[in-house]
Amino acid sequence: MLESLCAWLEKTPLSAGIQNVGWIIPVSQIVHILGLAAILFSALSIDLRVLGVGGRRTSLAGMTEHFLPWIWSAVPLMATTGAILIIGEPRRDLLNPVFQTKMLLLVCALLATLGIQLMVRGAPSLGGPGGRAPWGLRAVAALSLALWFSIAICGRLIAYFM
Ligand code: HEM
Repeated sequence: MLESLCAWLEKTPLSAGIQNVGWIIPVSQIVHILGLAAILFSALSIDLRVLGVGGRRTSLAGMTEHFLPWIWSAVPLMATTGAILIIGEPRRDLLNPVFQTKMLLLVCALLATLGIQLMVRGAPSLGGPGGRAPWGLRAVAALSLALWFSIAICGRLIAYFM
């Protein structure tokens, strides 16, 4: 099924356009990397605060309110630039086990991030500066950190597993 999708995609005028207009792929990769930086910095700030490692002068609620919008606005940007890269070179990505793993990890990372948002929102007592997160929230934060960095590593490794 993926094979026939790739065969169809690479024959589309859109794929030909992405391949032949020289700046589209490099600009998409640059925007993708900038989005990656915003996501990793925001996830790191939130998750380390939840784990009690950093940012303790800021409340948990304050940290999530500040950094979650960066993640939620960067992901659609990553999906758009990622889609352009896929349409331009469908076989390079869709048939690539590392890309498939990355997308699976991405679903898990989005669920973990949503979980942190709902858990912090649902526990106003956690709001105070220096507030200590319950172990369940810390476990989700540790998982979120591992997932986002694994996605970034997979993103880079895609090129080596074609
Ligand atoms: C939201 C959906 C996303 C899609 C559809 C997507 C898709 C892609 C594609 C197709 C590539 C090019 C791989 C190649 O051909 O070499 C790529 C590269 C990459 N992606 Fe994503 N990606 C997404 C989200 C993310 C996220 C959330 C991160 C990190 C947190 C990420 C990190 C990377 C990295 C580091 C690269 C390598 C860039 C390079 O070295 O040029 N991606 N992604």
